[in-house]
Amino acid sequence: MRYILGIETSCDETSAAVLEGRRVRASVVASQVDLHAQWGGIVPEAAARQHVERLNPILQQALDAAGIGWSDIDGIAVTNRPGLVGALVVGLAAAKALAFALNRPFVGVHHLEGHLYSAFLETPDDPIPFPHLALIVSGGHTELVLARGHGDYLLLGQTLDDAVGEAFDKTARLLGLGYPGGPQIDQRAQQGDPTAFRFPRAKVEGWNFSYSGLKTAVRREVERLRAQNALDEATVNHLCAAFQQAAIEPLIHHTLDAAGALGVGVVTVVGGVAANSALQRQMREACQQAGLTLFLPPPRYCTDNAAMIALAGYFRLTAGQRDDYDLDAYANAPLAYPHADSSTPSNA
Ligand code: KG4
Ligand code: ZN
Repeated sequence: MRYILGIETSCDETSAAVLEGRRVRASVVASQVDLHAQWGGIVPEAAARQHVERLNPILQQALDAAGIGWSDIDGIAVTNRPGLVGALVVGLAAAKALAFALNRPFVGVHHLEGHLYSAFLETPDDPIPFPHLALIVSGGHTELVLARGHGDYLLLGQTLDDAVGEAFDKTARLLGLGYPGGPQIDQRAQQGDPTAFRFPRAKVEGWNFSYSGLKTAVRREVERLRAQNALDEATVNHLCAAFQQAAIEPLIHHTLDAAGALGVGVVTVVGGVAANSALQRQMREACQQAGLTLFLPPPRYCTDNAAMIALAGYFRLTAGQRDDYDLDAYANAPLAYPHADSSTPSNA
């Protein structure tokens, strides 16, 4: 299995990638951010229609960039869950049509499994280190997962309400910073003082997370400042820095705590929020101090992309896994389940 084609259309990025073995030969991502920015969030119907319009040229672009033709493709990996169903089916239908026309195998990949493998796109010659602890932080998910082997995942903790990326997006919206909010807050926070405001760190059971309390605390503060006409640019920067610090501290704390409790020496941080510069810096420092090896994908592989889907698919396809043409798309699907025998978190 030499060339794998990856397809990702689960949300608002239309993406295709070609891997040669585990090495990325082409990765094309067309973001719909500009389209959805006018509505301040993703409109599912519009996202699906954009995927329909863009996917074919993007597939061709990926093949051209990889310098291969259609018949060179040996297998196809496509995100089929979880995500916006109308968006997922566009990629899935394309994958099935190509698999049929080229007479090649295809597999459906869980979007979060793709994110897990994104940490290893830059190290194609090294074995994937198992077990490792993965912190998955995106617009839709906040999960701490123990990866014990290919396809063998244990859920250690997750958000009980909003995802951390969602908290970034909602806070940015509250402050009138536009969509998506994560990169805006990241930028603003660099000019702000994280100690200017003290927002609550959620106290939840075990290695779980919660962001609704933080969101409410920020909203109250913003309303108070607005009423006093005190929401100037410098104050917005301080709010961003203080919010960001409150958002990332539990992520770092739980990850380090779980690594220590379970005796795991390798940590990854993946998903859109992994691109956050403060999270990257503080996680690097914490892992270095604790003697943990940290894998952080470059920003282009943190946010949604088909290269990570192709890599997850590579391991499934080379292990002989194949899906049938009746494979469906699913809005919701867990990557992993909690396990009764997982160690008790120290802060439980
Ligand atoms: O993984 P992703 O591209 O899509 C999902 O699967 O959700 O993640 C998108 C999320 C958005 O919430 C976006 O605001 C956030 O990642 N994000 C960031 C940064 N870049 C993207 N959050 C904080 N700091 C960033 N630099
Ligand atoms: Zn994602």
